[in-house]
Amino acid sequence: MNIKSLDLFSQKFHQNPYEYYEQIRLHEPFAKVKLYTEAPDSWMAFTYEAAEAVLKDERFIKDMRTVFPGEMTDENVPPISQTMLFADPPNHRRLRSLVQSGFTPKKIMSLSGRIEEIAREQAKRMKEHETVDFIETYAFPIPIIVICELLGVPQEDQLDFQRWSNVLVDINEASQYDEVLMEFMMYLEKLIHNRRQSPQNDLLSHLIQAEEDGDKLTATELYGVVMLLIVAGHETTVNLISNGLLALLTHPDQLALLKNDPSLISKAIDEFLRYNGPVEFSTDRWARESFTFMGQQVQKGDHVIVSLASTGRDPEVFSHPEKLDITREKNPHLAFGKGIHYCLGAPLARLEGEIAIRVLLEEFPNVGLVANLSDLEWRQSFIIRGLKELPIRLA
Ligand code: HEM
Repeated sequence: MNIKSLDLFSQKFHQNPYEYYEQIRLHEPFAKVKLYTEAPDSWMAFTYEAAEAVLKDERFIKDMRTVFPGEMTDENVPPISQTMLFADPPNHRRLRSLVQSGFTPKKIMSLSGRIEEIAREQAKRMKEHETVDFIETYAFPIPIIVICELLGVPQEDQLDFQRWSNVLVDINEASQYDEVLMEFMMYLEKLIHNRRQSPQNDLLSHLIQAEEDGDKLTATELYGVVMLLIVAGHETTVNLISNGLLALLTHPDQLALLKNDPSLISKAIDEFLRYNGPVEFSTDRWARESFTFMGQQVQKGDHVIVSLASTGRDPEVFSHPEKLDITREKNPHLAFGKGIHYCLGAPLARLEGEIAIRVLLEEFPNVGLVANLSDLEWRQSFIIRGLKELPIRLA
């Protein structure tokens, strides 16, 4: 296969990328691909070994201000790109630890009762219908309500948040991006001002007060991290839940297994992440210097990406990788990344996924798909792997 002619944005590729990955992994663990017509080729890691090596290698860096000095500065790098996900040590540690204390396991576990309430409320609304789009009515609202409540966004503003979040991660909505970003920033400015005056018991107040070693977040970093938490934490979780349900509905034996033994849910979530995870590719990295990597000559400034989706199907690590097995014992998938940028929200995403799928199966034990798998359309987003719609019947 000629990898350079592969159109990673095409519907054909999205329909079943795993078929392509299987072929590529055999010959090209780490290879050049054409991502954008105007830009130079990028490196992509396809095997588990190559991907893990990229994610752990500090010579692949993330801060655009270091990669393109002079061209990229504090002034023209957008706030979201000044957050931990786009930072390198030692700045990365500072930015991450300021937020980490708002995401302790104890804090996350304390949300489980409320997440279950939200899931039941959404399920109740669905009961008025025989068939629904699962994404619109259930998978989409749950994580945005959770992240808004965690941050402290008032209920009456949460619909706006849903709309902004949708536009900010969807390449099809590029024409609205600037306008929405402006609206979002203006709203945040007001909300942050409000919380500075009267702090509450929420993550936003915590971030405002965050102080470690006397080092506070700057105003730009504060805007950035709120955006990051919404963008990184919303669409990802939506598609964990919807890709997970799709996997179950297309594997009735596994669905029956889970219904008979609901305690399998936490293994099932890891299996959904491995089998059909919501994050297809890692974020961008660049080579800090020229060096030989996986037998290839990487040049300083080269762009590097990891196909996380491909790693989940690598037979060197997973036995029968093409098989969905919710009882899988060894499942070291890379769906949450690896190394210093390992997903900060993984415990929250797992908890939301577990509760959302468990509640759905309790409320609608006869749930089923009302479309052929081949008729379902995948979104054109580059990073997110998710369906446009998932039509289901509830009884
Ligand atoms: C199933 C859902 C999720 C998946 C699959 C996922 C996946 C990932 C991946 C792969 C990375 C690393 C990207 C890279 O190294 O290029 C990452 C980082 C991150 N994720 Fe998630 N994520 C999910 C949910 C969440 C949630 C719910 C939040 C927070 C509310 C969150 C916040 C973050 C943050 C802040 C980072 C940056 C960490 C750092 O740079 O140190 N994610 N996520």
